[in-house]
Amino acid sequence: MHKIKKDFLWGASTSAYQFEGAWDTDGKGKSVQDIKKSFPEGVTDFKVSSDHYNHWKEDVALMAELGLKAYRFSIAWTRIIPNGVGEVNEKGIEFYSNLIDELLKYNITPIITMYHFDLPEELEKIGGWTNRKCIDAFENYAKVLLENFGDRVEYWLTINEQNMMSLVPEAILGKEKAEQISLKELYQANHNMFLASAKATILCHKMTKAKIGPAPNITTIYPNSNSPEDYYAAINFSAFRNWFFLDLPVYGIYNKVALNILEKNNAMFDILPGDMEILKEGKPDFIGFNYYTTATVKMYEKKENNSSNQQSGAKMENFYIQTDNPNLSKTQFGWEVDPYGFKNTLIELNERYHLPVLLTENGIGAYDKLTDEGKIHDQYRIEYYQNHFKYMFEAIEEGVELFGYCPWSAFDLVSTHEGIKKRYGFIYVDRTDDDVKECKRYKKDSFDWYKKVIDSNGSDIA
Ligand code: BG6
Repeated sequence: MHKIKKDFLWGASTSAYQFEGAWDTDGKGKSVQDIKKSFPEGVTDFKVSSDHYNHWKEDVALMAELGLKAYRFSIAWTRIIPNGVGEVNEKGIEFYSNLIDELLKYNITPIITMYHFDLPEELEKIGGWTNRKCIDAFENYAKVLLENFGDRVEYWLTINEQNMMSLVPEAILGKEKAEQISLKELYQANHNMFLASAKATILCHKMTKAKIGPAPNITTIYPNSNSPEDYYAAINFSAFRNWFFLDLPVYGIYNKVALNILEKNNAMFDILPGDMEILKEGKPDFIGFNYYTTATVKMYEKKENNSSNQQSGAKMENFYIQTDNPNLSKTQFGWEVDPYGFKNTLIELNERYHLPVLLTENGIGAYDKLTDEGKIHDQYRIEYYQNHFKYMFEAIEEGVELFGYCPWSAFDLVSTHEGIKKRYGFIYVDRTDDDVKECKRYKKDSFDWYKKVIDSNGSDIA
């Protein structure tokens, strides 16, 4: 028997640009995702995505049928404030207001991410997050959200995967952006995002009774061997990838190991007088985090080369380089699968920060097949979740205060850089990278299985 509380938030996640489509409908402005120029061959853009904007009522009804207790989604900044600053788009407010009401009608708790990789184009034009004007713009945007939805939303997330935007900008923000920006600018942008997140947190506490937290991608880091050098590599990578992004919001201090890496790479950013006070004040109520896999590193060797995606390919000269873990299997898209590592990550988070934790993403991207009978037999997805739940329950048993689990994703949606063919949902969306068709929805086998898990509050995961 496990100790899952009665009000545990069994949920599922999506993000606006990957799910909504309607990229220029009803006054929406363009975001950096809408203006991305190069997509890998055979990979769709984000113009239609899963067309949730035109299916939202049907989608919420499906979520209710699935039995979701919570739905984590993001709001498109450019739907609310098309130019990033200035005029508010009433149509955008109306869309999310209706969505929130519809969710509440079915007792589904909305968990809203304020910003998930889709900075307004107009802000990108002035340098994006490297420009401190973005901090004020975000604070103002957060104010508009809290004014309009703060009465109905209990949980907010400020920024999704701030660490991945800094660590692998090419995967998340596109090749052009990554090529334009130096390491120092990247971490200046990161500092400015921390400030924006802290200001939104302060505002949320002033204006509402809601709870708010960040949503980085956090994972346990293994040394490749028991050599002291590899252990040093693991300490450095863990600090740079994980703790840098939580020590600051939670304790108001910059992680020294991470700063040392930046200093050695001539990438130390500017901190203005008053910044640290704001950062100390904006404390989260909980930690949201995304978990897909663990990472293994060894001491950096100069001759090596490596490509990048969110889960692998990290390297920092003289500190670490990421390597495969032979103990783990891989998904069809090459991501290592580590359910035991989920438990380790939860325990590490708990012991380091002593805050309630919300899992905001976890899941498996696969080439799902729609059969002629309209079925999707995704047994591999069921097994992936079964294995993760086993260790999640053990972590809770060992004292981790996990209050919700929102896997990625509720519905199929367009991956950050690998198109719609990389499917994550419990609900299949019938379109391909080349043909958007009608985006008809189909329940996968994992839908029935997850429904049973939720109905039994996690007692029946067979
Ligand atoms: C996280 C993001 O990086 O992982 C999501 O928050 C993303 O936006 C998810 O979709 C899975 O990654 P990918 O690259 O397979 O879409």
